[in-house]
Amino acid sequence: MDSILVKGGGSLQGQIPIAGAKNACLTLMPATLLSDEPLTLTNAPRLSDIRTMTQLLQSLGAEVTSLNDGKVLAMSSHNLNNDTAHYDIVRKMRASILVLGPMLARNGHAIVSLPGGCAIGARPVDLHLKALEAMGAELDLKDGYVHAKAPGGLKGGKVDFEFVSVGATENALMAATLAKGTTVLNNAAREPEIVDLARCLRAMGAQIEGEGSSAITIQGVDRLGGAMHAVVADRIELGTYMLAPAICGGEVELLGGRIDLLASFCEKLDATGISVSESKDGLVVKRKNGDVRAVNVTTEPFPGFPTDLQAQMMALLCTARGTSVLEEKIFENRFMHAPELIRMGADIDVHGGTATVTGVEKLKGAPVMATDLRASVSLILAGLAAQGETRVARVYHLDRGYEHVVAKLSGVGANIERISDQ
Ligand code: UD1
Repeated sequence: MDSILVKGGGSLQGQIPIAGAKNACLTLMPATLLSDEPLTLTNAPRLSDIRTMTQLLQSLGAEVTSLNDGKVLAMSSHNLNNDTAHYDIVRKMRASILVLGPMLARNGHAIVSLPGGCAIGARPVDLHLKALEAMGAELDLKDGYVHAKAPGGLKGGKVDFEFVSVGATENALMAATLAKGTTVLNNAAREPEIVDLARCLRAMGAQIEGEGSSAITIQGVDRLGGAMHAVVADRIELGTYMLAPAICGGEVELLGGRIDLLASFCEKLDATGISVSESKDGLVVKRKNGDVRAVNVTTEPFPGFPTDLQAQMMALLCTARGTSVLEEKIFENRFMHAPELIRMGADIDVHGGTATVTGVEKLKGAPVMATDLRASVSLILAGLAAQGETRVARVYHLDRGYEHVVAKLSGVGANIERISDQ
């Protein structure tokens, strides 16, 4: 298994291009199942999660062709020939559940494996299922699979989400585009990826209002057509690379970055003393002279501070002056990076969903290992600031969500390489 070797020290200068958003692409791809006309996505990221979704769609009979070195995905679902999303593929990636709403809406039936547990908590799919039931779906859970039927088609309904879920909002939104009548999604997620999905669905002919707010109204239509859609920039990749000059010093321009995608994160960076400004082509992040200041962070649904940047922010706060309190409110078990950061000399105390981080003068390089995607990249960031060498194992987590991480960071002067164990 490959690992990543980082040698700390040295400030960063230059530009990093930001790719299309993994999480947007993973919900835009299943939207192809809603129509028999082609859907083409541009600005797609080159990631293993995207390849997993490609396999899943192909297993259902969709055609997915990767063009322009993977940046363009040309899809067509004119010949769907299988109604079952099998456990073999679904178990690899929780976002697989996003095929359920579109398949059910288009065909009136679907069988989808339950995704099962995952490293950052139980993550059930009950909200997805309740939303589809509110649109008239009949669901039966058998042998680890959801058997869904909507004889006569889905019907518009009122969905009141008990709490905010990105995936459940996406599934319900896609399903409602082909349901008969009007659907209202209350307490919907407001993430930029939802707004991107709504834009794409509208280009396919869907009637949607209110995306980006917590009430989305969908007027069902008989059929959807084809579309060409550019995937929104990846705000989590953006925030991750914004933290690189914050942690190492220097000045880096993030090409394609937008403040509106990450306003609360930018406010926190500003509070630590890191400067963020807009440029013609994106955002510029600069570490001013002097220490980084401690700051308290609570993760929340958008527009709050994203849980997917909590681990990376913790890496920065490990070297800040003073004590920071990080509260994780979205997932119950998302501090697995803390013990690894402690191995690098960090001072972190975790109690339930709260981590208290007291900055140390210098982190020290160490062999480390991560159990999820964002945790892995937080260890790379910490390694960039540490004295000596850090070896991050289990790189397959990174490959799920960061394309060309070594090229992007070494392009701004980081000392980083990928080591193959063979
Ligand atoms: C998406 C993102 C993920 C991000 C998360 C929160 C994708 C592919 N993944 O995940 O990177 O960390 O949003 O911003 O877009 N929950 C339930 N029942 C459900 C659904 C969710 O209890 O039916 C819980 C989850 O366990 C979690 C919380 O709701 O505690 C929020 O999860 P959700 O917003 O659904 O996350 P995902 O869509 O899975």
